[in-house]
Amino acid sequence: MIILMFGGPGAGKGTQSEILKDSLGMVHVSSGDLLRDNIKRDTELGRVANEYMSKGRLVPDDLIIAMILDRLLLPDAERGVLLDGFPRTRPQAVALSEALEFKSKRVNAALYISVADDVLIDRLAGRWTCRNCGHVFHEIFAPPRVAGVCDICGGELYQRDDDTREKAITRVSVFHETTEPILEYYKLTGTLCEVDGDRPIEEVTKELLDCLR
Ligand code: AP5
Repeated sequence: MIILMFGGPGAGKGTQSEILKDSLGMVHVSSGDLLRDNIKRDTELGRVANEYMSKGRLVPDDLIIAMILDRLLLPDAERGVLLDGFPRTRPQAVALSEALEFKSKRVNAALYISVADDVLIDRLAGRWTCRNCGHVFHEIFAPPRVAGVCDICGGELYQRDDDTREKAITRVSVFHETTEPILEYYKLTGTLCEVDGDRPIEEVTKELLDCLR
């Protein structure tokens, strides 16, 4: 199974993927997490990606496509993949469908978590992420029990560099200009299911699971 997670920045793709991967027994592959790991390890990809990510712009297609297709070749991907944050452009969508076709696979579902722009920006500006396990919290909507400390592993919580209001506005407009148009392609193939993401986390999960049934 290949399930794509679509949504603007802060729509809840990461939050929902972490919940769904456990109930579906699949692997969560997040393009943003893979890039941030490269930045942390100071790889060549990480250095180039950081120039774009720090401005809220998309990383060039050739770099992202190579990174994701390599990740999909790892043995754990055979369990099924929840692909979060990829594809975001038409060339990425084409590269993914060609790579899957080569292995006689296809996208089984494209889940679109739809959230209004002003809500997305409030969510990004209030997000706190665990430096250790990556779990995300929100200072108002999903607060940790103790401020600055992860409920799951006790790690330190931090705010991402690209979660300022100014960069969030750029990221939302990049989503509308570049990623939203490719949803049409998945609609035409009958794989797209849109859910209203401006509801409590558990309700969104329930609707996403309904889409998959
Ligand atoms: P990436 O890391 O993928 O960021 P994003 O798409 O902007 O999405 P986020 O991870 O910020 O949000 P999310 O939807 O996962 O929301 P979350 O669950 O955390 O990408 C970062 C950058 O990398 C890009 O800008 C680009 O530069 C580069 N990049 C990545 N992929 C690329 C690609 N394919 N091509 C080119 N460049 C690429 O939730 C957000 C907050 O809301 C949290 O605080 C959470 O607690 C809260 N929340 C979640 N759900 C709810 C709810 N239902 N109600 C209330 N609060 C909620």
